[in-house]
Amino acid sequence: MELKGKFKKFTAKQLARAVVETLICGALVIVASLIKFYLTGDSVKPAFWFNLIYLIILVSAFYGGLLMYVMLTRTFIVQNNRYYLAFLVTLTAVFIIHLYLSLISPLLIAPGLTSMILVQLSRKKQDAFVFNLIEAGLSFCVLIYEAITTDGSVYMLVGGEADALNLQMWLTVIITVINIGAGAVIPVAFKDKTNRLHYVLVGLLVTVASALSYVLMSLAYSDITLALGLFWLVLISGIIPLIAAQFAVPLSEKIFNLVTDNRLIELTDARQPLLRRLAAEAPGTYSHSMAVANFAEMCAVAIGEDPYLARAAAYYHDIGKLSNPFYFSENQAGYNPHDDILPEVSAEIIRKHTTEGMRLCMEYKLPYEVAQVTVEHHGTLPIFVFYERAKHLTDGEVDIRDYSYHGVNPTSRISAIIMICDSSEAAIRAMDRPDGERVDRLLRSIIADRISKGQFDNCSISLKDLDIIRKTIINAYGGLFHTRVKYPGGEK
Ligand SMILES: [Fe+2]
Ligand SMILES: [Fe+2]
Repeated sequence: MELKGKFKKFTAKQLARAVVETLICGALVIVASLIKFYLTGDSVKPAFWFNLIYLIILVSAFYGGLLMYVMLTRTFIVQNNRYYLAFLVTLTAVFIIHLYLSLISPLLIAPGLTSMILVQLSRKKQDAFVFNLIEAGLSFCVLIYEAITTDGSVYMLVGGEADALNLQMWLTVIITVINIGAGAVIPVAFKDKTNRLHYVLVGLLVTVASALSYVLMSLAYSDITLALGLFWLVLISGIIPLIAAQFAVPLSEKIFNLVTDNRLIELTDARQPLLRRLAAEAPGTYSHSMAVANFAEMCAVAIGEDPYLARAAAYYHDIGKLSNPFYFSENQAGYNPHDDILPEVSAEIIRKHTTEGMRLCMEYKLPYEVAQVTVEHHGTLPIFVFYERAKHLTDGEVDIRDYSYHGVNPTSRISAIIMICDSSEAAIRAMDRPDGERVDRLLRSIIADRISKGQFDNCSISLKDLDIIRKTIINAYGGLFHTRVKYPGGEK
């Protein structure tokens, strides 16, 4: 099916999945609300079908709006559906928690819980605010409807009597304002998601800010003593997101296989099983991957990409070499097995490390964004050594495609960074005495060659980015390939 306009960016399957998931979560919101309406002795009085229609309109407005928001501004999470599903499930679960906590007290909520979880799961902070806003709005509309319709007569929020029901309605308003406020403060305050102390400080900030806002707003209400007597409940509420997010974030990362800063740091831990295997079975490749990672991380920072993702992707980019480590020069100590086999067999073995890398990443359940780099870091480039050897053996009658990688051209800026850093690291290492001018010439030729072969046609890397990457590598290579002062007697 051909999609039009803004929706061209998605396949019909991606759109259908997003719509179905939204509908299912919307249905969950309706069912949870209806159960809540009839759970207590003073249940809502309008007829069942009236409640149902109200909820359907409400959910259509909020979840429909959310779907439009993600489709128009967050292409990535709709294309990589597991992100949208994780965010949607978080929103729905927080709404249900919020709804049922109010059974205990209307003041017992988890201010900014959606935001606290999503700021750690999403790579765009705006998602945390928007999803939290939707949850707060939806909770408000359901709770206020419940309060208004509990005894059959419609109560007025403004100008109503100062009775218990009116107090409950005002508390719902105050709590919603605190929820929205916390949802906005968290993404701004949460600068470093990998710093656990920072996480606790943000949680405490939300707690204190919620409690203060509650006191200030309660002053506007006539029954101050009653409102202030419940102050401690708001304090407890502030701690809930802090604790709940500690459980929800790692769980979501695992269930939905998401890429987050913490997950990426875990993946670059030398105790990871695949990295341990790489260090033991292909030490040359391991050392090459570490060096590529240092370049890639600096380049990612320089062009505003995710440095954690760049590092993790570099660590695993050649993981496929584990199948045949000694067929790769960095792991050879003297003997080269390619000397004894036909160039076409050699090319096939070399080529296979990309697809084999993807297979291993899938087997070890690595995130797709990391696995993707294994098949994209050589794109469709030729493997010149064996092409030339084959030409030599067959009087030049060789199809270059038989001696090229059958991978995919980089589809992300991270893959493009790894492609450049990978070839640069290998080429600089092969240089006799690298100096600034020669390295610059080399990098220019590597980048120009990739551009001329259309390797960057499928990703959004710009010429300016490529220039920044080149300059970053020039600045960094000296530190990575430095020489040492000779030890006395070392020459002997
Ligand atoms: Fe490679
Ligand atoms: Fe490599």
